[in-house]
Amino acid sequence: MRVLGIETSCDETGVAVYDTAHPGSAGLRAHAVYSQIALHAEYGGVVPELASRDHVRKLLPLVRQTLAEAGLGVNDIDGVAYTAGPGLVGALLVGAGVARSLAWALDKPAIGVHHMEGHLLAPLMEDDPPDPPFVALLVSGGHTQLVAVDAIGRYRLLGETLDDAAGEAFDKTAKMMGLPYPGGPQLAALAETGKPGAYKFSRPMTDRPGLDFSFSGLKTQVLLAWRGSDHSDTTRADIARGFEDAVVDTLAIKCERALDAAGCNVLVVAGGVGANKRLRAKLAESAAKRGGRVCFPRPALCTDNGAMIAFAGALRLQAGQRDDAQVHVVPRWDMASLSTVAPPL
Ligand code: KG4
Ligand code: ZN
Repeated sequence: MRVLGIETSCDETGVAVYDTAHPGSAGLRAHAVYSQIALHAEYGGVVPELASRDHVRKLLPLVRQTLAEAGLGVNDIDGVAYTAGPGLVGALLVGAGVARSLAWALDKPAIGVHHMEGHLLAPLMEDDPPDPPFVALLVSGGHTQLVAVDAIGRYRLLGETLDDAAGEAFDKTAKMMGLPYPGGPQLAALAETGKPGAYKFSRPMTDRPGLDFSFSGLKTQVLLAWRGSDHSDTTRADIARGFEDAVVDTLAIKCERALDAAGCNVLVVAGGVGANKRLRAKLAESAAKRGGRVCFPRPALCTDNGAMIAFAGALRLQAGQRDDAQVHVVPRWDMASLSTVAPPL
């Protein structure tokens, strides 16, 4: 089944075609992402109305481009998947409107996908995908969650952030130190040149039991360190390194705990912060130590993309699920409310 995936929940327009006839990475026939970073940069954050308008401008050309790259015509598509939530309502409506209309015109089934389920399943698009049960660490700009995946579609929340998401903490900390938007990847790049241990920040909420996170206090610690510093490039890099190490260690400690609590040795990691090199290295090291396994999507599939939506949608469409012709989006949506998808993967 060849599924067209459309992602427009925030500031990335993503389109892809996933073909379930070829499992793993071979199934991804084409994918393209248009990032709105330049558009929002001067405002220091995403402006929802501008995001919606830009999705309107970019989505159809991107659909044409992706189909051409896949060597397919629009009639070769067997189904359409789109992000129905959570996200910015106007942005979501653009993708949902186009997806539903396309499906209607082609007389093909369509399905609204949960953005975080898309992230969560992205590692399964790589070769040799793990089978549930496993534990997922979802780390994006809006979410930081540990989820027990009992089956595809059956998700139990084990822990989540009580305030800022990990990506949000990266972005806000970067902004505080004068880095341009979006700061997360820039802060991570800067941390590469920082001296480990020059600044030591706390590993929030690791000194007590539980699987929840809190990153806002860490952000304040960094702010105080930055204010009291000489503001040199070296200091900025050292602080960035101290901050990154604190976030990475905290995430790794909680992942270990979640695996222990779930009695499981397979971790999948997804969402934008999953592209972070140090996090990938640290979790790989922990997995090796405990004789377990950690699976990541390639970095381009960690951040928002249409491929994860095509893939998650394909699994649901293949299982016979579909939505009616109404254009419906869900800006706030609990992943635990999703229905279970029976394999096959
Ligand atoms: O999953 P995503 O693309 O969008 C959301 O659904 O939120 O995640 C974006 C987040 C941003 O906060 C961004 O700063 C962060 O992921 N991010 C990173 C890195 N790449 C993206 N954070 C740390 N290190 C990175 N290499
Ligand atoms: Zn995302």
